[in-house]
Amino acid sequence: MKHHVLVTGGAGYIGSHAVRALLAAEYEVTVVDFLKRGHLEFVHPDAHFFECDIGDMAMMRGIFQQQKEKGIPIDAVMHFAGRIEAGLSAAERDDFFYNNVACGERLLMLCEDFNVKHFVFSSTAAVYGEPEEIPIKEDAVLRPVNYYGMTKLEFEKRLEIEASKPDRGFSYVALRYFNAAGAHESAEIGEWHPHESHLIPRVLQAAKGEIKRLDIYGTDYPTKDGTCVRDYIHVQDLVDAHLLALEYLFGAGKSDVFNLGNGNGFTVKEVIRIVEEITGKTLNVVEELRREGDPAVLVADSSKAQSILGWTPKHPDLKDIIQSAWRWESRG
Ligand SMILES: NC(=O)c1ccc[n+]([C@@H]2O[C@H](COP(=O)([O-])OP(=O)(O)OC[C@H]3O[C@@H](n4cnc5c(N)ncnc54)[C@H](O)[C@@H]3O)[C@@H](O)[C@H]2O)c1
Repeated sequence: MKHHVLVTGGAGYIGSHAVRALLAAEYEVTVVDFLKRGHLEFVHPDAHFFECDIGDMAMMRGIFQQQKEKGIPIDAVMHFAGRIEAGLSAAERDDFFYNNVACGERLLMLCEDFNVKHFVFSSTAAVYGEPEEIPIKEDAVLRPVNYYGMTKLEFEKRLEIEASKPDRGFSYVALRYFNAAGAHESAEIGEWHPHESHLIPRVLQAAKGEIKRLDIYGTDYPTKDGTCVRDYIHVQDLVDAHLLALEYLFGAGKSDVFNLGNGNGFTVKEVIRIVEEITGKTLNVVEELRREGDPAVLVADSSKAQSILGWTPKHPDLKDIIQSAWRWESRG
C-alpha cells in the first residue's frame, strides 16, 4: 500500500521542499498549515491541502477521518510546523509553547486515535545550548540557552514517552538540524520567513539593496574573527534525510535522534565575504553587541545519520548553498 504522510508546516520553507521530495518518491501527501508564516503558493498542487491550525483538534480530527474514509489513511507524520525565531522566543513564550509543544502534544493524541505509528520531527541544534565539545554529537549535554531550544527539547521528550508506551508500536526520528539554507533547484521555493532573522537570507537581501544596514551581533566571541560560527546545511540535503528517516521507520528502525549538518563551521564574517564574492556587492555591515541566547560555535557531527540512515549530503559546499539561495532571492 502507498504510504500517506501528513506534513505539518508544508507551506513553510523546509516543509514545502519535503512535500516535493515526498511526491517525487510517490508518497500520498497531506499538508496542514495555517499560513500565518507559510505561503499558499509553496504548497504543491498534487498534495491535499488544509488551511488549519494544528492545535485545532476538531478540524484536525476531521482531516484524519476524511483521509481514512477515502481509503488512504495517514500512516506517518512529518512535523515541521512551529515557531522558529529563537531571538523572539523569550518575549513570546506563550506562543512558542503553544506552537512547539502544545500543538505537537495534540497531534500525538490524534496519532494515537488514528493508529499512526511513525513520526519525523524537525528538531534543532538549539537543544544543545553552549556545547562543551565541537563537533557536537547527539549524546552531548542538552542545555538550551534560549526558550526556542527548550520547547524543541520538551517535544523530543514527549516523543520519547510516546515511543515507550507498551503496545503502542510508535516510533520516531528527531532530526536536529543545524542551519538550513539554500533553495529548490527550480528556484520556485526557497527561504522566505516574515521578519527574516537567518543570516544568509538577510545578507542576500542586503546585497539586493532591500536592507540598507546589515547589523551583525557580537564580534568578541572566542572564534577566529570574533563572530559566531555556524554549520550550514542545504535544504535539499535536509529533505533527503527526512525521506531516509521515514524509510528507516517503516523498515522497523528504532526511535532515535540524529544531527544534520556538514561538519564545517563558518563565521558570520566569512558568510558575508562569500555573499560579496558571489553577488559582486559590497555590504554596509554594522557591528552590534552580542544578542542573548546565541552560542559561539555550533558545528555538527553527523556521522550517526550517515552510518544509520545512510545519509550523505550532496551539496556540502557553502558557496553552492549560497549560490542556490541567491538564485531564489534574485528570481524575477
Ligand atoms: N530553518 C532552519 O534553519 C531550522 C533549523 C533548525 C530547526 N528548524 C525547524 O524546522 C521547522 C521548519 O522550519 P522552517 O524554516 O521551514 O519554518 P517556516 O516558518 O518557514 O515553516 C513553518 C510552517 O509552519 C506553519 N505553522 C506554524 N505553526 C503552525 C500551527 N500551529 N498550525 C499550522 N501551521 C503552523 C507556518 O505557517 C509555516 O508555514 C521548524 O519546526 C523549525 O523549528 C528550522
